[in-house]
Amino acid sequence: MYRIAVMVSGNGSNLQALIDSVHNNPKVDAQIVMVICSKEGAKAIERSTEAGIRTEVVTLESRDGNRERRDGEVVRLLRLVAPDLVVMAGWMSIVTPVLLDAFPDKVINLHPSLLPAFPGMNSIAQALDWGATVTGVTVHIAEEAVDGGPPILQEPVPILPGDTLEALEDRVHGVEHRLLVRTVTLYAQGKVRRDPARLRRMIVDDGGA
Ligand code: GRF
Repeated sequence: MYRIAVMVSGNGSNLQALIDSVHNNPKVDAQIVMVICSKEGAKAIERSTEAGIRTEVVTLESRDGNRERRDGEVVRLLRLVAPDLVVMAGWMSIVTPVLLDAFPDKVINLHPSLLPAFPGMNSIAQALDWGATVTGVTVHIAEEAVDGGPPILQEPVPILPGDTLEALEDRVHGVEHRLLVRTVTLYAQGKVRRDPARLRRMIVDDGGA
């Protein structure tokens, strides 16, 4: 069985999508074996506890704001469950090589824009304010550069005339849930690998679906 760890910080709607469509899906031979949350009291904690998943809280404050020490604790916990894949699904804190080097090519991140456009925070609002006619969602390999690693799957979301931030956020989040579930399912099926000839590229054998 494919073992997934999920890192979260807030609402956890993407975690919920993974619980509903991967963890509880008999057709996918995969399980979420641990959830790590960076914030006490986050809604995501409720979601994972309710699903019976081992849930740990590791805040940056509890490690005196030291990211390396925080990531050291995250790595210690993750090693207890030997994950095949570590999914940052709304993990709102920069990670360091302490985590990335412990699980090379196994840490992936979800971002609500078509990278490399609009990295960082408030990407949906940035796209709207900039006047873009299209934004989207990216699932990518996590690297030290924030929102910088090679994309695995990307999907555009049109920005419609008269769109409000709320309306656009709703559509982007809907696509996030679907794209993240698809990405993790493809990983669990062994269909994602790095292109040996071009290391910035990921090869996804999804039959173009
Ligand atoms: C998502 O938009 C994710 O891309 C971003 O933070 C949001 C988290 O949402 N980094 P949720 O906690 O999964 O509901």
